[in-house]
Amino acid sequence: MNNLDKLKEEVNNCTKCNLCKTRTNAVFGEGNINAEIMCIGEGPGYYEDQQGRPFVGKSGQLLDKILGVCGFTRKDHVFIGNIVKCRPPDNRNPLPEERESCLPYLYKQIETIDPKIIILLGATALKGLIDPNAKITKVRGQWLEWNNRLVMPTFHPSALLRNEKLKHPAWEDFKNVVKKYRELVNKEHYSEHC
Ligand code: URA
Repeated sequence: MNNLDKLKEEVNNCTKCNLCKTRTNAVFGEGNINAEIMCIGEGPGYYEDQQGRPFVGKSGQLLDKILGVCGFTRKDHVFIGNIVKCRPPDNRNPLPEERESCLPYLYKQIETIDPKIIILLGATALKGLIDPNAKITKVRGQWLEWNNRLVMPTFHPSALLRNEKLKHPAWEDFKNVVKKYRELVNKEHYSEHC
């Protein structure tokens, strides 16, 4: 069993906050465990809780589509995780104490997977990892640094589904990620549209 499998078992048995009482499944995350890109969302929704997998609902389908256009797949290029591993009831935002008790799992995931680029999807991911007072509308599209890793905050796919106008800036952010991936990881990286 590798370190990430051990951590997954810990997450699946976690009772550190009240979200464990209402979850069907904890959602550890999935993708290439050696990925150079990590996408971090907020937390599981209904379908993720049912299936124990991240981003499998409507916003997940959009995320896969965006990643696909960038030439990225979960299997090869990306590991997808969340700030909290258990679904908040009625998809409410995770509470600060839920974020705090769950964050050490994310830190260990980042340390173990060791990605060069972290994509933060939406306000909860930005606030959880970088700064509780940061505003996604202000910092999206700007490269930040966190523990010697490059971080690109962008809108959450569910925000793109609610507001078409956000799609263009989000696409600019992902194009920037592809550019950086070519600089840092593979200059031959192929993507259909950028
Ligand atoms: N939204 C998230 O932030 N994470 C998921 O896993 C699914 C939807």
